[in-house]
Amino acid sequence: VPEVLRDKDLMRSWSRSRRCNGQTIALVPTMGFLHEGHLSLIRTAKSLADLIIVSIYVNPSQFSPSEDLSTYPSDISGDLRKLSAAGVNAVFCPAELYHSASGNELGGHREAINGERVVASCLEDVGSGHETWIRVERLEKGMCGTSRPVFFRGVATVVAKLFNIVEPDVAVFGKKDYQQWRVICRMVRDLDFDVKVIGSDIIRDFDGLAMSSRNVHLSPTQREKALSINRSLSKAKLAAEKGQKNCQDLKDLVKQTISEAGGKIDYVEIMEQQGLRPVEEISCPVVICVAAWFGNVRLIDNLEID
Ligand code: PAJ
Repeated sequence: VPEVLRDKDLMRSWSRSRRCNGQTIALVPTMGFLHEGHLSLIRTAKSLADLIIVSIYVNPSQFSPSEDLSTYPSDISGDLRKLSAAGVNAVFCPAELYHSASGNELGGHREAINGERVVASCLEDVGSGHETWIRVERLEKGMCGTSRPVFFRGVATVVAKLFNIVEPDVAVFGKKDYQQWRVICRMVRDLDFDVKVIGSDIIRDFDGLAMSSRNVHLSPTQREKALSINRSLSKAKLAAEKGQKNCQDLKDLVKQTISEAGGKIDYVEIMEQQGLRPVEEISCPVVICVAAWFGNVRLIDNLEID
């Protein structure tokens, strides 16, 4: 049974004492409501370190006020059962990770930074005293960053906090959230975090839908329609392997397949894998990234073409 830690200082000393004994530590950050995708990250982590810590924290700063923070699913007792069965050593589930309001010093954070558009996150809305943010300036833009302008700032900042609290040797992220994984890699490189970041493969349900905590919000018909995402990606990969190198044509194929099934496209992009720069012709390893809406549920998925 894993030890459950709810306090930053206790978490840090738990971790430090183990590292002093020469044990290596892998961190798997999550927002809970765990599924097989999360559990696969734990299996990857186990092959890389002696001890596994899973964090469960629904990070308010990566949600904008119009997003689904309040309806984000949670099941902490179910999660603890799964983590126990998975052989995790410790679970870090802090009630709150940010310093709370020290006054009414809000406003300022809502000003545009460097002429960018004004953004607000749920954290600012509750009046937190937190004011330091990590911005991975180019990689946080485009794809998910376009429709979710505070998302990667919130993710990078909370992951930096988790790294500073847990001090892991290794951290494992899912390639399901491809841009997120690359943002974290870039932050670690640019800020010299002493953490090795590993990307772990996407886990899909029996029907091909990429597993996600948000899938519970899909009705059976929406779920059926959402299978078009994976289908469209496979089609495009097959076309590319058969010699279709034009990215615009490949993107159109993906968009058409999803639209015909009734999905509303947020974006379809074909990017070079490392730096996520758009490509026009496939001549290097690329990733096709998709975000689409089915009803009120926004799903993301991707497929690498090596
Ligand atoms: P969450 O959505 O809970 O995901 C936690 C980790 O599980 C992420 O690294 C994500 O990429 C991975 N994951 C989710 N579904 C997966 C799947 N089907 N296959 C493989 N990996 C999958 O991502 C977050 O939380 C948050 O943004 C977080 C990094 C914890 C920061 O708050």
